[in-house]
Amino acid sequence: MSVWQDMLTYVDFCESDQENLRAAWPLIESHQQTIVTHFYDIILGHPDARAVFDDQAQVLRLQNTMKQWMKELLLGPWDEAYFQRRQRIGRVHVRIRLPERYMFTAMNRMRQDMIDVVFDNAEKDQAKEMCRSISKIADLDLAAMTSTYMEAREWQQLRTLQDLIIHNMPVTVLCLDADGQVASATAPGTRLLNPQATVGQPLEAFLPPELLEVANLEAAMERAQRSGRVVTIPRALLIEQGNDRHFRITVVPLAHELAHMLVHLEELTDVVHAEVRAQQAESLARIGTLAANIAHEIRNPLAAISATLQVIGGSLATDDRRKVVLEKVGDQVFRLDRLVSDLLGYSRPAQVSNQVTELRSLARDAVAQSGVDVELRGEQDCQVFADPQYTSQVIVNLLQNARDAGGPVWIELGPGPTLRICDSGPGVSAEVRDRLFEPFVTTKTRGTGLGLAISRKYTEAMGGSLELLDGDGGACFRIGLLRAPHEAP
Ligand code: HEM
Repeated sequence: MSVWQDMLTYVDFCESDQENLRAAWPLIESHQQTIVTHFYDIILGHPDARAVFDDQAQVLRLQNTMKQWMKELLLGPWDEAYFQRRQRIGRVHVRIRLPERYMFTAMNRMRQDMIDVVFDNAEKDQAKEMCRSISKIADLDLAAMTSTYMEAREWQQLRTLQDLIIHNMPVTVLCLDADGQVASATAPGTRLLNPQATVGQPLEAFLPPELLEVANLEAAMERAQRSGRVVTIPRALLIEQGNDRHFRITVVPLAHELAHMLVHLEELTDVVHAEVRAQQAESLARIGTLAANIAHEIRNPLAAISATLQVIGGSLATDDRRKVVLEKVGDQVFRLDRLVSDLLGYSRPAQVSNQVTELRSLARDAVAQSGVDVELRGEQDCQVFADPQYTSQVIVNLLQNARDAGGPVWIELGPGPTLRICDSGPGVSAEVRDRLFEPFVTTKTRGTGLGLAISRKYTEAMGGSLELLDGDGGACFRIGLLRAPHEAP
């Protein structure tokens, strides 16, 4: 037995009820407008009830709907299609957010008005029977619309909760309904979700098409649905304006009407970049050890060559033309020796011995050592916690680079435990900039390409930092050191 049949049987809605209702219709029809007007007057007198209407036009439209409703109520047929139309009313009332209490109270007023008309216009006995039947059908109508109202409202509340949870998740999640539309989505704070996309649109509206394609997401979703298992796409690469972005995508089949499928996107770009850096660092470390071994091997023969050159040079007369050649060879040997020293300096672990020192005096000593003509700017002084030898070596390196770049060179002390070494040269080109601190990257024709790499290594070993600042003119390097512990922050 259908639900509707069951309801009719329960209240014993039989042939005689149908006849009573049909007989009541002509009486009520002549008062229809008055009843409907009264119905809406009462609604409009209650602010919360009135609030569900958009405008007066809607009220007028609904008056006609109510007249039709009343006609069907009294004339039937009270079949399954009737039941379904009544059920629909409940869902519509949820959609327009009508508080549930108004359905019961409004039905009471409607029923009362119809009964009053019947009592005023029909024979007493007949009126009694008609009113019993009106009461039955009004209750049946109320039951039909309330059942769907409850169901739809529960649904609406669940969806609101789902939206709230998903929207505020600290990860990127898209929840799809059975039609494949996005039912809820995380707040589009991530750089991934299209901020223009709105709930109710397909996945394509939210995610870049290239990502969907490269991850073959459609196939993954199909697989997840078919197997009922979580499917993970471990890596999907997206190239965006020349930059690579990496994602892990997980598809979770939920098989629930509200949430059919969950798509979770995790950006791994930083992790992938860190992995690459770690691998590079590892291979650099291996090369470093190798280079240090070779440097050791080269050092002794170099010393022997240098000594031999000196002996030969000393045995030649001052005006001997071969002396010029020997000097050139000597220059190259000297260069090689510097390269070997730098290589050893770069590959050897730094042995830091930080101590409390004055930044200004460190800078002054380094300037004196460098032999570079430098202007020392900035009145501030600061107690730093640094290794004087390493700091001095770093400053000397940077000063010599600055001098080689050409133009005036200056050091600016402060703010705090920092100093900047600037020159007026051509600056650092964009191509070199990102790799400037890598070994063997140099802008000079005669450098070993290790000076900046060593300088950064030393400053970082002391707990400080070395960076190239952005600027228009020449190059400007900033050394950041640790503030001495007893200094106020
Ligand atoms: C006896 C109680 C009620 C009955 C029988 C009833 C009946 C109906 C019907 C038949 C519809 C059209 C449904 C459809 O589109 O299929 C409807 C919609 C609506 N009802 Fe009711 N209703 C009742 C109570 C109320 C109350 C108390 C209010 C307001 C406080 C109200 C406000 C509305 C609104 C705003 C719509 C939507 C109209 C639209 O689509 O523009 N109803 N109702």
